[in-house]
Amino acid sequence: MTSLLPSGHVFPADFLWGSATAAYQVEGAATAGGRTPCIWDTFAAAGRTLNGDDGSVAADHYHRYASDVALMRDLGLGAYRFSVAWPRVQPTATGGPNAAGLAFYDRLVDELLGAGIEPVLTLYHWDLPQWVQDEGGWPVRSTAERFAQYSAWVADALGDRVRRWTTLNEPYCSAYLGHASGVHAPGITDGAAALAAVHHLNLGHGLAGRAVREHASGGVDLSVVLNLHVVRAASQDAADVGAKARVDRLANEAFVGPMLEGAYPAELLADTRAVTDWSFVRDGDEASIAVPLDSLGINYYNTSLVRDGVPPVGDGRPGADGHQTSPHSAWVGSDRLEFLAQPGPHTRMGWNIEPEGLVELLTDVSRRFPDLPLYVTENGAAFEDVVSPDGAVHDPQRLAYVRDHVDAVGRAREAGADVRGYFLWSFMDNFEWAWGYDRRFGMVRVDYDDLTRTVKDSGWWYRDLIAQQRAAD
Ligand code: NOJ
Repeated sequence: MTSLLPSGHVFPADFLWGSATAAYQVEGAATAGGRTPCIWDTFAAAGRTLNGDDGSVAADHYHRYASDVALMRDLGLGAYRFSVAWPRVQPTATGGPNAAGLAFYDRLVDELLGAGIEPVLTLYHWDLPQWVQDEGGWPVRSTAERFAQYSAWVADALGDRVRRWTTLNEPYCSAYLGHASGVHAPGITDGAAALAAVHHLNLGHGLAGRAVREHASGGVDLSVVLNLHVVRAASQDAADVGAKARVDRLANEAFVGPMLEGAYPAELLADTRAVTDWSFVRDGDEASIAVPLDSLGINYYNTSLVRDGVPPVGDGRPGADGHQTSPHSAWVGSDRLEFLAQPGPHTRMGWNIEPEGLVELLTDVSRRFPDLPLYVTENGAAFEDVVSPDGAVHDPQRLAYVRDHVDAVGRAREAGADVRGYFLWSFMDNFEWAWGYDRRFGMVRVDYDDLTRTVKDSGWWYRDLIAQQRAAD
């Protein structure tokens, strides 16, 4: 049989083929089992999302998880990456873990294991309880401690069956989009708050990682998921190269440094000195953050091109990170950073399609951290889907995007990168944050009128790929 991949790469039998979602984006059931609001409920209620969309119903996965898992099994998924909603488990500041909230994940994990699908659990995918925000949110230290407490409870409840644990998903977005550009909840535009959030997210990662190791009764594979930016300078001029380096430090090294190398780079502190003195970093914090990891998750969608220059402000176009530009830049302390439009093709998010960027990223990271197994924990694309008269969703662009990026993972492996798994974003259409339901990433379509699911052509292709790869090895 001819390979479904252009390179013909054959992945090993134990390569993890998965798909991913996140609690707020798919669950709905906003008040079920005692759940209290999270910062995205508040943000949406304030009219900050497109069309005022919110996650109160979403894909109703909370009620439909059993049939969703059955569909995952039919598609041949080996793993499912999901997140736990903190406000379900810890709905208020006082009292112990909420049994009704944990019970949902207990059922979900058992359903997955029963279907032969490995659960991959993320502890924080952006749904901070509103009461934690009211205590100060990520810019304050107590949030890191609160996060460790909540994580210990989840590990107590599920650590006998879940082996793969991720602390944070894309702390870059929580810190900068949430506190600098303000296009994500909690919608703050304050550079100093954003950098304090960077540090307390990092600290939360370290403390929660330790809590998971202590409280999970089974074996633990501990990771964090970073959206590492592939950023290039528009020219070799020193000013442009310097602009690229500043983005690298804020987007990548602010997390990789303390988490994997035990310290913030001195240049990052120097770049941001006008904004903060970093006095929120206490002795011993960097050691706490550097909890040993068993693997690293990488989310990849596109690349960025920057030059030294004053950016056009608030023109409403998607920014380099794909989110609406606003009068406030996510690039704290760096006024002279201009993100240039990239050549096409682009997805519906306005993001450029460049599989080579993924080859480059995976090989670079693997060379730098040769002992750290990598997983592509998210990759996928939004396109405008049309339901054909026959009921099918023909999505050749998404299919090609996934095919070419899986192929890129294969080529990175051939170049020596230690990549052990791939998770397609997303299993199904869902609440795309500030863009609400207007952007569809699923390999399964969700009809938001009646919540029925329809596997798209890309989903059938992914099923065939997984089957072909399993047969080939
Ligand atoms: C990254 C985030 O983790 C996920 O929640 C989001 O939907 C996708 N990227 C697409 O923007």
